[in-house]
Amino acid sequence: MVRETHLTPDDFIWPLFVTGGSGVSEPIASMPGVDRLSVDRIGAAAKEAEALGIPCIAIFPYTAAEGRTPDGREALNPDNLVCRAVREIKERAPKVGVLCDVALDPYTSHGHDGLMEGTRILNDETVAVLVEQALVQVKAGCDIIAPSDMMDGRVGAVRGALEKAGFQDTLIMSYAAKYASAFYGPFRDAIGSKGALVGDKKTYQMDPANGDEAIREVALDIAEGADMVMVKPGMPYLDIVRRVKDMFHVPTFAYQVSGEYAMIAGAIERGWLDRDRTILEGLLAFKRAGADGILTYFARDAARLLG
Ligand code: PBG
Repeated sequence: MVRETHLTPDDFIWPLFVTGGSGVSEPIASMPGVDRLSVDRIGAAAKEAEALGIPCIAIFPYTAAEGRTPDGREALNPDNLVCRAVREIKERAPKVGVLCDVALDPYTSHGHDGLMEGTRILNDETVAVLVEQALVQVKAGCDIIAPSDMMDGRVGAVRGALEKAGFQDTLIMSYAAKYASAFYGPFRDAIGSKGALVGDKKTYQMDPANGDEAIREVALDIAEGADMVMVKPGMPYLDIVRRVKDMFHVPTFAYQVSGEYAMIAGAIERGWLDRDRTILEGLLAFKRAGADGILTYFARDAARLLG
């Protein structure tokens, strides 16, 4: 009766990694308990999500080195892994929402989120490609477009293109406050861009030392038409979640990223932390900090515990 916050499966967005083939579940070394799944297995996972009351799945593709190009053109292929996974989810678990990242890093040979000239990111040229990527994903059935690339002006450009193409109902969740973080390490392993990444993402992702800058970034994305905003990583940035929620009163999400998952899952595996309590306490803390929802690789585990 006096509990201030509650955690339910309805709070979760479950990120899944899709890979080629069929019947494939491929372990990811730095994320014990998380596998890359072929499209058919993504469908099976979506049915599980539906049964557990998880409202949304986020899809990330694994692309081996030979599938990557400097311009990341596979992002625009309407039959790429993401689009096939989206269609599979919509067919097998139509009630589950699908969120897709807009960024080129799963497809570029240099592992960056945008197009490059030498070591420089080309902002405006990248935005033009991201708009096309968003349209391809929406046409495949994606419900929420999540620009994670951090280029300037991309939320407004995507919003404009969606309206023009008649997709007024597609939601935009912007990765508004996205820090240049060491906690993304295992993710880059999972999508195959770890070996590929040349340099770092500090010119377009935020300095972990800055809090006010996050507020400015969120304000910009809301002004450009974002329906919801995200703070990422999660646990080390709960102060930012709280500030964003208090300041803007828009649906605010937090991403418990791959490195946070790895820390907790690794310690559980060694018997250093109590599995069930640690998973649930960690996620409850996001709610207490003001998050309306959480992207978490623990979504299925936590939903089972709560069920
Ligand atoms: C790509 C993207 C990243 C994550 C989500 N989208 C990695 C990055 O910016 O390098 C990280 C998610 C995680 O670590 O779980 N733009």
